[in-house]
Amino acid sequence: MPDFDPLSIRNDFPILQQEINGKPLVYLDNAATSQTPRQVVDASTRYYSRTNANIHRAAHKLAREATAAHEAARSTVAKHLNTTHDHEIIFTSGTTDAINLVSNTLALSEQISSDDSIIISGLEHHSNIVPWQILCQRTGAALKVIPVLDDGTLDMNAYSALLAESSVKLVAVNHVSNALGTINPVQTIISKAKAQGALVLIDGAQAAPHLTIDVQALGCDFYAFSGHKVYGPTGIGVLYGRETILNALPPWRGGGEMIKEVTFEHTTYNELPFKYEAGTPDIEGAIALAAAIDYMNALGMESIAAHEKSLQELATSALLELPDIHIYGSTPEKAAVISFRLGNIHPYDLGTLMDQMGIAVRTGHHCCQPLMARFGITGTVRASFAAYNTEEEVAQFITAIKKSAMMLA
Ligand code: ALA
Repeated sequence: MPDFDPLSIRNDFPILQQEINGKPLVYLDNAATSQTPRQVVDASTRYYSRTNANIHRAAHKLAREATAAHEAARSTVAKHLNTTHDHEIIFTSGTTDAINLVSNTLALSEQISSDDSIIISGLEHHSNIVPWQILCQRTGAALKVIPVLDDGTLDMNAYSALLAESSVKLVAVNHVSNALGTINPVQTIISKAKAQGALVLIDGAQAAPHLTIDVQALGCDFYAFSGHKVYGPTGIGVLYGRETILNALPPWRGGGEMIKEVTFEHTTYNELPFKYEAGTPDIEGAIALAAAIDYMNALGMESIAAHEKSLQELATSALLELPDIHIYGSTPEKAAVISFRLGNIHPYDLGTLMDQMGIAVRTGHHCCQPLMARFGITGTVRASFAAYNTEEEVAQFITAIKKSAMMLA
C-alpha cells in the first residue's frame, strides 16, 4: 500500500484534530459510527446551500436538480454493490430500518406460516434478531439459531442440520459480526440456503466499511447497510433487494411517492424503487452517502481493509502480552474489531478510564446480549479500526489499557 497514508487521510477529518480530556482524540469506536470526511460534509452543505427541494414532485429547476442528484446517488450505491438494476436499491434510515422493511413486507405477504422457520445466527445484533422474532410471533413460524463456536465462528454443520429440519423460508445473518469482528462465510451460507429455496438477507452493516460487496456474486436476495458506518451521515441506509422479489412483495409503508393512483376505494402502487420509499426521503443523506462511497473507493476498499488488518494484528499481539487478557473471537477471519476483557475489570470501568486518556472505545453488550450470554459475560471492551487510525494510536491504546489496569488493580 505505498499510496495509503493514514496521516494524510486524517487531514480530511476535522473531528479527529481535537483533544478529549486534554489528550489527542484516539477514536477507536468506528464499528459504532465512523467519522465523516470534509468531502462528505461538503456534499451535505452544497446540497442545502444550492439544491434543496423536494424530489419527483415539481417542474421547477431546483426540484429537477435535487431529483437528479438523489437518483445519481442511488446509481452510485447500485454500482458499489454491483446490483443488476439501480431500482434494486431502496433508501432506508439505516440497517435496522432495512431489516424491518423486509420482515414487515414478508409478514404482509402471508407467505410465512406456522409450518415454516427462519434461521438467524448466534452472532446477530439485536436488529437482526428482534424483527424476526416479531415476524415469528405474527406468523407462528419458528426462529432457529446457528450456534457460535468458541473461536467466534458459526457452526456450519449445525447450520446444514437446521436447513434440513423444516421448511426454511428465510436465512438472515450478518456478513461481519459487530461484537467480535468474525467474517462469516456468507457465500456458503447463501448457496446452502438457496439450495433449499430459502430467501437470504445479509446484514452488511459491519462489512460495508471494510469489504468489497458484490450482491450478484454473493447471490443473496437482500443486503442491508448503514451510511454512518461508511464515513457517511446518520439517518440514511440501504436495502438491496432482488428485483423479482421486491416486485412480488407488497409495500410496507403507505404515503406519498409510493403510489401510482389513489382513490378512497383503491390504491395502486408505484414501480421500484419508489414502492418502498413512502414520504419525502432523506435526500441530502443519500447524496452525502454517495459522496462517502466515492471517498472510500478513492482510497480503495482493499487498501482500507489491508491497513485496518495490520492495525488489528498489531493491537492483538500487544494485547496478548498482557496478563489476564481474554480476546473474544480468535478466528483469523476477522474485520477491524477486537473485543476483549482484562481480568475481572468491568468493561465500563476500563472504558471510562480510557476516555479520560482520550481513547474512545465501546463497552457493554454491543446490542448482542445472546452472544454475550453464549460466552458467559455481560459485555466486553471493543476497539474498532478505520482508514484514519494509525500505528501510533494503537500504541496509545495499549499504553492506556496498561495504565488503566494498574489504576484499577
Ligand atoms: N451496531 C453498532 C455497534 O456495534 C452501534 O456499535
